[in-house]
Amino acid sequence: MTRPLHVFVLAAGRGTRMKSEQPKVLFDVCGRPALTHVVRLANEVGAASVTVIVSPEHQEACARATEGDGARVVVQDPPRGTGHAAQVAWEALGEATDEADVLILYGDGPLYTARTVRRLLEAHVAGGEDVGGTLLTVELDDPSGYGRVVRSADGGVDRIVEELDADEATRRIREVNTGIVVLRAGTGREVVDGLSSDNAKGEVYLTDAVLALRERGARVGRVGLEDHREGHAFNSIAELSVVRDLMRRRIVEGHQANGVDVVDPATTWIDVDVTIGAGTRILPFTVLGRGVVLGRGCVVGPFSHLRVAAELADGAEIGNFVEVKNSRIGERSKAKHLAYLGDASIGAGTNIGCGTITANWDGTAKHRTTIGDGAFIGSGTVLIAPSRVEDGGRTGAGAIVRRDSTIGPGEVYVGVPARRLERRPGGADQNEGGPS
Ligand code: UD1
Ligand code: CA
Repeated sequence: MTRPLHVFVLAAGRGTRMKSEQPKVLFDVCGRPALTHVVRLANEVGAASVTVIVSPEHQEACARATEGDGARVVVQDPPRGTGHAAQVAWEALGEATDEADVLILYGDGPLYTARTVRRLLEAHVAGGEDVGGTLLTVELDDPSGYGRVVRSADGGVDRIVEELDADEATRRIREVNTGIVVLRAGTGREVVDGLSSDNAKGEVYLTDAVLALRERGARVGRVGLEDHREGHAFNSIAELSVVRDLMRRRIVEGHQANGVDVVDPATTWIDVDVTIGAGTRILPFTVLGRGVVLGRGCVVGPFSHLRVAAELADGAEIGNFVEVKNSRIGERSKAKHLAYLGDASIGAGTNIGCGTITANWDGTAKHRTTIGDGAFIGSGTVLIAPSRVEDGGRTGAGAIVRRDSTIGPGEVYVGVPARRLERRPGGADQNEGGPS
């Protein structure tokens, strides 16, 4: 039997340790705000509704970050602790019977996987009718800062003790609260509504709901994290960098498992939502932004930067210090050194010489550069957009191709500003010694 699942994402904390105006939960983690990762996770595990709790000053920004993911954004004003956040969320949810469950996630923990959450939900349902809630816990070598889990005689959880309220023996417990918990919706609501702020911080602690459930005779189950790396949340920039690094490694490992030859995982940054074909080689110090698409058998790097809407067809090669943005590079085409390719469409089998620039921005608007198949762009060419190079078109080294130019099929343009190179009937070039 499955019960409908409502998810609360708590994201109203002040995040003072970030020392930033930006809301903590909106810091980017590999191409997507932390909060968005969490909301997507809620959808992935089949949430019937997602309620995000935010502080008043961050309402707009958080609504923007979760737009399109079907979440309801609710303000907690002022934030008075995680238990208070849950009270506000339940108020917004309205209906609350034990025929549904409520899963609580934290906006500052973007590393949890759907697999883990499903394990938690399955254990919760399998626990039976007397289980009021099930908690996700993790054993840490250094549990400091986290709430400690005190086990009950039945192997479940007796209570959670926050560090500030813990005595020395309790502080030595290494099993901690991840914050992720699933509660029967009706009982959970009653218990959470009854929470008070009688503790060291003077906040309403959600964690006190465990003891309150026990006092009503309900059991609280526990599921341990299999991979403790998922348990990293962030309260500071230094912790955020750890979270990003863990996410980055996970993404790289996913591509490796698909047959992508990532040579140096330690220096390769790949955002979420990047597609890479099998047999493609990614050389060290490469950065692939969100949404980049690479075909099969491509070679990228070292030191390449592919950004938004960059797309390489099969066998294309992008080399050192080449930036590609909003551009499609055709099959087997190459840009191996020092180039900027922005807002460009490049055909198949074309060679982009060292130092080529598509000058796409005129100070007011962006314009496109179109290059056909089998073209040859000489070193140091600047193509001022909009402009066009037809199939087999060529430019000489250092050519500055003026805007609105079209280099016809097989034509050669050279010089500054670039002019068409006329061939004499005998075949020799008019203003150059020979073919470049
Ligand atoms: C909390 C838990 C702790 C657990 C740890 C795991 C409590 C009392 N403590 O501590 O047991 O080990 O998380 O990371 O729950 N938030 C609100 N409104 C508020 C306060 C916080 O929405 O009024 C949100 C925050 O944005 C954050 C989450 O709740 O996403 C957790 O709050 P935080 O202050 O980071 O709790 P911790 O001290 O880390
Ligand atoms: Ca936290």
